[in-house]
Amino acid sequence: MRNVNLVDIFKHHITRKYLRRSGVHHAVTAAQYAFEIAVDKGVHVDHAAKAALLHDIGHYEWYNNEGEWDYDEYRQNDIHAIKGAERAHKLLIRLGEDRVAAKEISVAILLHTDSYLPFSLEGMQTPLQEVITQADNKDEQPKGLHHYKQMEVSAAIQELHKLDQQIDAILAKETVSNKFIG
Ligand SMILES: [Fe+2]
Repeated sequence: MRNVNLVDIFKHHITRKYLRRSGVHHAVTAAQYAFEIAVDKGVHVDHAAKAALLHDIGHYEWYNNEGEWDYDEYRQNDIHAIKGAERAHKLLIRLGEDRVAAKEISVAILLHTDSYLPFSLEGMQTPLQEVITQADNKDEQPKGLHHYKQMEVSAAIQELHKLDQQIDAILAKETVSNKFIG
């Protein structure tokens, strides 16, 4: 049994406020991809889906005075993974998330990209962190267009509810097989 599910996270006003900036469609799609990849690789499905849902929660307003977004300039000065990791951790703890899970998820957000680092993370990521990078890249479009795809809040909740059920089913199966091993 999980303390917090994806729908709980999505419905929180902090999530809604910040995900509006980076795109609800991208967040939900990344969570779905992360779940699939995590199943494939034997990575913790709950942590993967949560980290992917929140991976861009640290994005800030990137519009200039003319209401346009200079994508190249944004990329050069962006630290969204740092802001996102902190924001997600605070949110998860407030929602009652397990502390170990909150840290795993937060660090996966911090290290889902090396765009702000002076070195590459290639070969240095944990399996969970790799899943988030792959899920993010899978939905990425040139010039950040994936941030602008639209998704209604009700549709997002519906998709996340489905994903929650899939995660619960996998975790329940794991609990049963662990009992057998024990
Ligand atoms: Fe992203």
